[in-house]
Amino acid sequence: MLRLTADDRKWLSGAAGGSVCYGEPMSRHTTFRVGGPAEAFVTPATVSDLSLLISGLKERKLPYRILGGGTNLIVRDNGIPGVVIRLQQCCRGITVESSNSAQTALTAMSGENLQKLCVFAMRRGFQGLNFALGIPGTVGGAIRMNAGTALGWMSDVLESLIVLDPSGRMNTISKADLRVAYRSMVFPDTCNAPENIIISGRFVLKSGDAGAIKSEARKILQQRRQRQPTTLPSAGCIFKNPSTGKTAGELIDLAGLKGYKVGGAEISLKHANFIVNTGRATASDILMIMAQVRRIVYEKFQISLEPEVIIEGE
Ligand code: EPU
Repeated sequence: MLRLTADDRKWLSGAAGGSVCYGEPMSRHTTFRVGGPAEAFVTPATVSDLSLLISGLKERKLPYRILGGGTNLIVRDNGIPGVVIRLQQCCRGITVESSNSAQTALTAMSGENLQKLCVFAMRRGFQGLNFALGIPGTVGGAIRMNAGTALGWMSDVLESLIVLDPSGRMNTISKADLRVAYRSMVFPDTCNAPENIIISGRFVLKSGDAGAIKSEARKILQQRRQRQPTTLPSAGCIFKNPSTGKTAGELIDLAGLKGYKVGGAEISLKHANFIVNTGRATASDILMIMAQVRRIVYEKFQISLEPEVIIEGE
């Protein structure tokens, strides 16, 4: 269903201060390579353009969503009504704020690539971000999802965040005020969470030895390649691990579902908690597999798997 009137489009084309595309296929912007069109797809050039854009959208009561790296996202085949905003141009840069012999504080803008941040830290001997090696996506997306592995989570190294609210105010939220959990980082109630946009994160990293960090990095990346399908499009792990007992991957594997296919989507033979796009998958193929997996795992083990991926659109 379309949300933008001709007048909205006219305003948007003038107000965005960056690029605006209409009907942009989201399959170009998700790592699953599926998803219908965003009604409007905006890439603001600067943070002040972004600020003007979201206050205008709010005034016009137009729906918007922020796109990170599109790495943990399934966009349905009919696309997303309203405005999708991409931060990779307006929120760029990594800056060392302060450094002493024990630790370094640095700020990474939310549109930066998470891998770029890991490499930035590794080269300078700043320790603590290796856990994130191989996790695709942007810094902002990783913060919002509290991305992590068995080796660490974003919340381990994050000190504070700067967020932009729809009235154009920048607010700092310290880690102590965030509710941090497995795969989530919830803003305080005072902060009108869904409408705030993460602009940057401040991280504190310990001083280490660049050579040792690099050789640890090599091992981590190698293990990831061994255990996870890294060559076909996917959205990483599809379901959250249950809080106790077997992991989602183990449950799906034990249910005999590896290799299960719908259209062009397939449960990876390498890791059962990954669905891969073998070439021509649609979002509905993937969603159908997810529904089947949930049903079969529930029937066999009486465990309800919860999606880790975010599902958007119509
Ligand atoms: N396993 C199976 N069959 C499978 C896959 C895994 O039996 O098909 C078993 C493994 O043998 C192992 C256990 O399940 O005993 C756990 O597997 P793994 O070490 O691969 O970890 P995971 O719990 O499946 C989690 C995160 C990953 C993260 C890895 C590495 C979740 C949902 N997944 O996977 O995160 O990369 O640990 O630390 O928390 C993601 O969030 O997108 C993601 C991939």
